[in-house]
Amino acid sequence: MDMFVGSEPAPLIWPEAGVSRVPFRLFADPAIYAEEQRRIFRGPIWNFLCLEIEIPNAGDWRLGVVGETPIVITRDEHGEIHALVNRCAHKGALVCLQQRGNAKALTCVYHSWTYSLAGQLQSVAFRHGLRGKGGMPDDFDISSHRMQKLRIETFCGIVFGTFSDATPPVEDFLGGTMAQMIRRNLGRPYRLLGVHSQMIHNNWKLYAENVRDSYHATLLHTFYTTFKVNRLDMDGGMLLSDCGRHSISYAKRSTLQQADEYKTVHSAQYGNALHGPHLLESFTEFDDGITHVIQTVFPTMAVQHTLNSLAVRFFTPRGLDKTELFWMYLGYADDDEAKTRMRTRQSNLTGSAGLVSLEDGCINEFVQRGTRGSEDVQAVLEMGGRDVGSSDGSRATETAIRGFWQGYRSLMGL
Ligand SMILES: [Fe+2]
Repeated sequence: MDMFVGSEPAPLIWPEAGVSRVPFRLFADPAIYAEEQRRIFRGPIWNFLCLEIEIPNAGDWRLGVVGETPIVITRDEHGEIHALVNRCAHKGALVCLQQRGNAKALTCVYHSWTYSLAGQLQSVAFRHGLRGKGGMPDDFDISSHRMQKLRIETFCGIVFGTFSDATPPVEDFLGGTMAQMIRRNLGRPYRLLGVHSQMIHNNWKLYAENVRDSYHATLLHTFYTTFKVNRLDMDGGMLLSDCGRHSISYAKRSTLQQADEYKTVHSAQYGNALHGPHLLESFTEFDDGITHVIQTVFPTMAVQHTLNSLAVRFFTPRGLDKTELFWMYLGYADDDEAKTRMRTRQSNLTGSAGLVSLEDGCINEFVQRGTRGSEDVQAVLEMGGRDVGSSDGSRATETAIRGFWQGYRSLMGL
């Protein structure tokens, strides 16, 4: 008698309606979570690792993560960048323990195995034993052991890594429209103004949805609507990559039309005014009229250029229902002090305690909690239709979320 027969949950079958329905089980099933690590994060995609400016000098290294796999990104003595699994080839211990550092070599604290910055094993403590006794076998070959390497590519100062030989070049992975927008925002020298991270208590895919969700932006985020920073009655739209999984939400603030539909939005409080109106002072950055860009790169990266706030966001699973979200605030290298001050001030709108985005820190958790026990129920995503495709002219759409799921399904074989 096998008492475990039948205890395995049935495989997930995607609803016939396609990507306009999303099973809540996707946010709660440990087997799916494990499969994502293999098929997505270690699959044929590029993962955000870090910015080149975070490791400017020879010997610089910093930690990164791909899915749950710990990574260290290094710059070697020749200036070349490497991405290595942060795991000693001996027993598997973490090699680098701090967030960042500068070193000539990487040494594991457990048994002092030492690696070059390119990850090659260089020396093993007590290799020949002590006083002629013990030690490694004579045929132990140092050159055949190393920290596992990832393929890397850099684009506009962003370091991407992949475990798969099948991943196409970054620009092909992004597609022309996506690459062009990254060039617009990050295609010239920039510098880091600050970084912070927050833990959000939800499955990573709920944030992947949230950052693509232009529909919620002016409903949940009352600051946007109240102070007319961003509303759906501005000219704008949603552009998707051919595969649908990357997206660009854009808007032009000067085209605000005061649509009647906003009168029924309960949360906007139009009588209010800021005590410090200079918070929203901004300067014109580009001649295309676009003042708001939230661009997503599948699976876990986004670039924002909203007013003058330029930032890269990266989020990573820290378990089935935990996600760490990193905010890297940037300014251009040639910014004067006034521009830097304006960007820094505007960074108060986003981030973990941001006047706009603080709500996102809890709304995804509300979904995680609200769907508990409802793994057989599905979300309804029909705003803007049931298909996946660019929506030039409207951001009242969930097409980018459906696009995420289209990309997700093809990688997951669902
Ligand atoms: Fe949001």
